[in-house]
Amino acid sequence: MNADWSPSSWRTRPLRQLPAYPDPAALETAEGQLAAWPTLVEPGETEALRGHLAAVARGEAFLLQGGDCAESFDELGSDTVRGTFRVLLQMAVVLTYAAACPVVKVGRIAGQFAKPRSSDTETLDGLTLPSYRGDIVNGAAFDAAARQPDPQRLLRAYSHAAAVLNLLRALAQGGFADLHQVHRWTTDFVRASPQGERFEALADRITDCLAFMEACGFDAARTPQLHAVDFFTSHEALHLHYEQALTRRDEASGRWYGGSAHLLWLGERTRAPDGAHVEYLRGIANPIGVKLGPKVEPDELCRLLEVLDPERRPGRLLLITRMGAGVLPQRLPALLRALREDGRAPVWCCDPMHGNTVTSANGYKTRDFGRILAELRDFFAVHAAEGSHAGGVHVELTGADVTECRGGAQGLTDASLAERYRSACDPRLNGSQSLELAFQIAQMLKDGRGR
Ligand code: PEP
Ligand code: CO
Repeated sequence: MNADWSPSSWRTRPLRQLPAYPDPAALETAEGQLAAWPTLVEPGETEALRGHLAAVARGEAFLLQGGDCAESFDELGSDTVRGTFRVLLQMAVVLTYAAACPVVKVGRIAGQFAKPRSSDTETLDGLTLPSYRGDIVNGAAFDAAARQPDPQRLLRAYSHAAAVLNLLRALAQGGFADLHQVHRWTTDFVRASPQGERFEALADRITDCLAFMEACGFDAARTPQLHAVDFFTSHEALHLHYEQALTRRDEASGRWYGGSAHLLWLGERTRAPDGAHVEYLRGIANPIGVKLGPKVEPDELCRLLEVLDPERRPGRLLLITRMGAGVLPQRLPALLRALREDGRAPVWCCDPMHGNTVTSANGYKTRDFGRILAELRDFFAVHAAEGSHAGGVHVELTGADVTECRGGAQGLTDASLAERYRSACDPRLNGSQSLELAFQIAQMLKDGRGR
């Protein structure tokens, strides 16, 4: 199995989207240190996620994947993590309750620190500096010192991810995610909104249901699924020095596992079959996501998947389409047919964010809630027409009350963007918009089942 692969074999391939470090010896020292530290996740957990994803591929569950575009070292405050976690819990409960469908919960969190960029440099007022590539590489501030790639940031990324993951595990298992606490998941700013009211009404029904079942003699205390959730982590596997340093061989199975997160994905800009990123990911046993933009061709995709998953392991592949509203119906059907003919049944997931990014008249990178929803509707419609499963959604969101995407029931406008635009990278749905999206998706899932 993979005789010609090793955790470092990517180094012989073209490496895209990573800068040259000015001091290679310092990079090597940081990598050595990282390699001596424990992994953040274990193969048993990663295999459990693969099992869940196999169920999604069979149409028996739905995948909810979401979080920041880019996490920041400055935001270690537990409020940020708690906020993202609680909004994902809320969305999951809406989908589970309204659509009667088990939901697999995966955060873009605890490692989402590296960003691909369309340009290597950025020019401002006549000064040209290296682009910001995420906190794991350099700083966002526009000055020469901050933009210098710094290998010490690999270690900070690990420490930050470990702290976030520790809190996530506590939240998932320590009582906060107990369904009896469903009313506590709403933040104050969402509670006052129409989405918040709708959620509270649903929470009332869940609370009534639990009380009824317990009155009938159902022993909730003995039902762990009511008290805790399985929550998994994911990020783009962009910084291969970081990923390699956390790769370990599992003694029991003999397979190699990426230890930085349960699920790793290939970005739209780094999925060239001859490239370093594909080389690294093909050798690890984790579930692998692949972002698919509007230009991908069916035969190109089939060849790529043969490299990434020659064994055809159930739950191994997650294909994340990010084509843009209106474009997806022209591009997705051919991919679905080609893969069906090829005998592959991956998880199909929709990222309705990255194909719908625009610049507002007042200069903000933004996305319209209506376009996000439109791409999701296209996604469900195409899968229904082709007889395949619309398996999940991949979104950039935060629990905080930011104003980064326009529209939604709050009616955010260009002027609103200036109020609380906090993202260092792409615009995210706020807590209220995220919940609104979940109610809409629940309806799409329900409609699909009725068909
Ligand atoms: C992202 O998910 O933040 C991203 C950069 O996506 P893509 O690779 O699809 O452009
Ligand atoms: Co993004």
